[in-house]
Amino acid sequence: MVENISTAGEIKEAGLASQKLAINFLIRFYLVYKILKLYAENNELIQEQTELLFQDLQRLKETAGEVIFRIKRESIFFNQSRLKFSIANYPIFKFLLEEFRKKEIGQLIFYPELSKPELVKAMGIISQKRTSADPFVEIISELGNQGITGVGLEKIEAAEKLPSPEKSSARLFFLSILHLREISERNKENEKIKLNTTRRLIQSIFNHLIDNESFLMGLTNIKNHDEYTLNHSVNVCLLAIALGRRLGLSRAELVDLGIAAFFHDLGKIDTPLEILNKPGQLTEEERKIMELHPHQGAEKLIQLREFRRLPLSAIHVAMEHHIKEDLTGYPRYRIKNDINLYSRIVKVCDFFDAITTKRVYRKKVFTRAEALSLMLEYIGSEFNPLILKTFVQMMGVFPIGSLVLLNTGEIGLVVENNQESKFMLRPRVKIVVDSQGNKIDGEVVDLTEVDPEAKKYRRTIVKEINGEEYGLNAADYFLARVET
Ligand SMILES: [Fe+2]
Ligand SMILES: [Fe+2]
Repeated sequence: MVENISTAGEIKEAGLASQKLAINFLIRFYLVYKILKLYAENNELIQEQTELLFQDLQRLKETAGEVIFRIKRESIFFNQSRLKFSIANYPIFKFLLEEFRKKEIGQLIFYPELSKPELVKAMGIISQKRTSADPFVEIISELGNQGITGVGLEKIEAAEKLPSPEKSSARLFFLSILHLREISERNKENEKIKLNTTRRLIQSIFNHLIDNESFLMGLTNIKNHDEYTLNHSVNVCLLAIALGRRLGLSRAELVDLGIAAFFHDLGKIDTPLEILNKPGQLTEEERKIMELHPHQGAEKLIQLREFRRLPLSAIHVAMEHHIKEDLTGYPRYRIKNDINLYSRIVKVCDFFDAITTKRVYRKKVFTRAEALSLMLEYIGSEFNPLILKTFVQMMGVFPIGSLVLLNTGEIGLVVENNQESKFMLRPRVKIVVDSQGNKIDGEVVDLTEVDPEAKKYRRTIVKEINGEEYGLNAADYFLARVET
């Protein structure tokens, strides 16, 4: 009987099957790619995994005929169809996308005649770290030298090279600060506030956060002392959306949470600057005025003319973000015995951003890791345990923006946390001080990298350091990425 795929249903099914096989193949590809960085080609584990990779490839060929992977914008295509990755596989997909871009690989083709030994060799060449200006040419010539013909590569088109999402993320960050400033000024003059713009801004922040969370987390290191409340509000908004996402909130809920976080300190418009910026302890009288801001914020939000466009939770958050989990703090609720979920989320982010910011009245500025450790001391009394634990996990042992001393004597800035929890202590860091103590604009290194000869990690974190003592400012590095 001749096999004939004729109905639409059958065609769709065949498409789904090859889509699944292609994703499985890429997951295995990723595995081999990663372990090739740790072991030599003749290692047993490599042998075993490449055998499985080869088998996956055969299956893929049988189902789909040709095997071509292509990078297009933020997607990987298999033959003509865009691969849809599940959330669980998303980090793998992102990793491959980034690696291909870095190596300027636009297309990866597996020809029918490819043999297993050829595949192993090709994987070794492709996965090798490249630092030259022309990684693609290097890879192609190495494949040629080894006589590998079963794997073909096409260079990425100029338009597909990494755009600068960083630039637009940073623009959005500053735009949000400007927007909040405008709102504060309009509020003072009793003018109409554009809540539609706020919602659109927070929606964009949400989209950027999905695509490039590490960079946005980096931006929260920006601490503008003159416009503390504005800058702080945007930081809290970013942190709250990222945290809410891990707590399983939906997109619509996250946008509402973002708006609520953005407005949490709106009441401070009414707090006199002498009190807000007073160095040293506040008097009893001044403290009382300061503690009015939750109430004043809630009232302002209620009075907004476009009130109906505002999520109700924004009023809760303005009112409740200084109430502790054990219901102490301020303002005192006499009857109420439950705090809004969004208020609890904002409370954690608010506290973290506040104590990691230098202020005239604050004797000690906490590093990011110190702040997490201090907050954990108040788990259950000040903070909701589940929310705080999720926050700590999200930030990692060395949160993005931390400066770390390495065993090589270099100092690195944490720019991305490792997705795998066993590598929590091995984030990606940018070298900012070399082993001789010179400030440099060094490369970004992955602390999971192993020196194959010495069979140990190239670099390991010794401890976190306080940037201020070394004259280093984390925010400068994130902004530098925007300017270049
Ligand atoms: Fe506040
Ligand atoms: Fe705050």
